[in-house]
Amino acid sequence: MQVTTEARKIVVHAAGGYDKLRVEAASVPAPGRGQVRIDVKACGVNYADTTVRMGLYASAKEYVGWPITPGFEIAGTVGAVGEGVSDLAVGTPVFAVTRFGGYASHVVVDRPYVFRKPASLTFEQAAALPAVYMTAWYALFELAHPRRGAKVLVHSAAGGVGSALVQMAKRAGTEVTGVVGRAAKVGVVKALGADHVIDKSTVDLWREAESIAPQGFDLILDANGVSTLGASYKHLRRPGKLVIYGFASMLPKTGGKPNWPKLALDYVRTPRFNPLDLTNESKSVLAFNLSYLFDRVELLQEAIGEILTWLERGEITAPQVTTYPLGDVARAHADIESGKTTGKLVLVP
Ligand SMILES: NC(=O)c1ccc[n+]([C@@H]2O[C@H](COP(=O)([O-])OP(=O)(O)OC[C@H]3O[C@@H](n4cnc5c(N)ncnc54)[C@H](OP(=O)(O)O)[C@@H]3O)[C@@H](O)[C@H]2O)c1
Repeated sequence: MQVTTEARKIVVHAAGGYDKLRVEAASVPAPGRGQVRIDVKACGVNYADTTVRMGLYASAKEYVGWPITPGFEIAGTVGAVGEGVSDLAVGTPVFAVTRFGGYASHVVVDRPYVFRKPASLTFEQAAALPAVYMTAWYALFELAHPRRGAKVLVHSAAGGVGSALVQMAKRAGTEVTGVVGRAAKVGVVKALGADHVIDKSTVDLWREAESIAPQGFDLILDANGVSTLGASYKHLRRPGKLVIYGFASMLPKTGGKPNWPKLALDYVRTPRFNPLDLTNESKSVLAFNLSYLFDRVELLQEAIGEILTWLERGEITAPQVTTYPLGDVARAHADIESGKTTGKLVLVP
């Protein structure tokens, strides 16, 4: 292996706040058989990365442990290929999906997780794409299958996943209500094509939702967890579906560390769904975490293939990105935790 200090990565040695995000020099990794080394130009930041840093992300503990380099997605150019990889020349612009390890200047990835970057996407947009667009794709088209005309409510609609959900749900012909937590996000969600936007910081969320869907929603997508989950379920009409994919409201918006008593209380207060009630009420509750589906390469490739086709046809747009130098990762984490950001945050090594 070539040993040099030209590579850099973010390393978290133990659970904690922003001070745990260390920029470290590293060796440039060499690709093994069937692998590709990507010289990274942009790394996507996801809300989940902050929970990896806090030591609360179960699959990070299961697959990596400590120390860990967070990051699920990168874009850059092919720097080297391992034996058996003959279809990607050095220098080809690509993006890739990683199960952790993405916050780095050089990343080695198995070939099936690497995709050619369309010329129409910048490296920053390409790095911002996989995690949130695949999450939205999986929630809508693998789990929920909304019918045309269905009433769909998307929580946190201006965020990374939310922005993708609004666009894909509109593309599927549904009537979309986006919910946001700040007035500054309303215009973002309208521009994404939502039919209705509820700013829950200024109006009563559920009174407003009831005026839009008096009989309830066919589909609600909720990554808030305890703050809205019970009411989301109640506001489904039969046979409605609730897709659960996150629990952000359990965590603080400032400070970077869990409030353990609140976390424990929120855990207890998180709704449990009874199968007898679900059956009698004809409602479904679906849930997933994409990081456990990493091995399902066929799903990944189908999702990315469809997403790139929709982008190429102009049926959805690329993520709106805000960039930070890799060394400013702490600021990026603080910003995504604050609940103030829209679209995606991207680190540039
Ligand atoms: N299951 C999966 O496979 C999967 C994959 C990707 C993402 N996720 C989850 O999806 C959610 C969105 O992820 P993202 O990366 O796209 O982030 P994001 O939506 O860009 O940012 C998080 C948003 O969550 C909302 N929020 C609600 N309570 C919050 C709190 N206490 N602290 C901070 N934010 C809070 C805020 O929007 P509003 O105030 O406007 O609501 C905030 O802007 C996260 O919960 C994430 O863990 C799950």
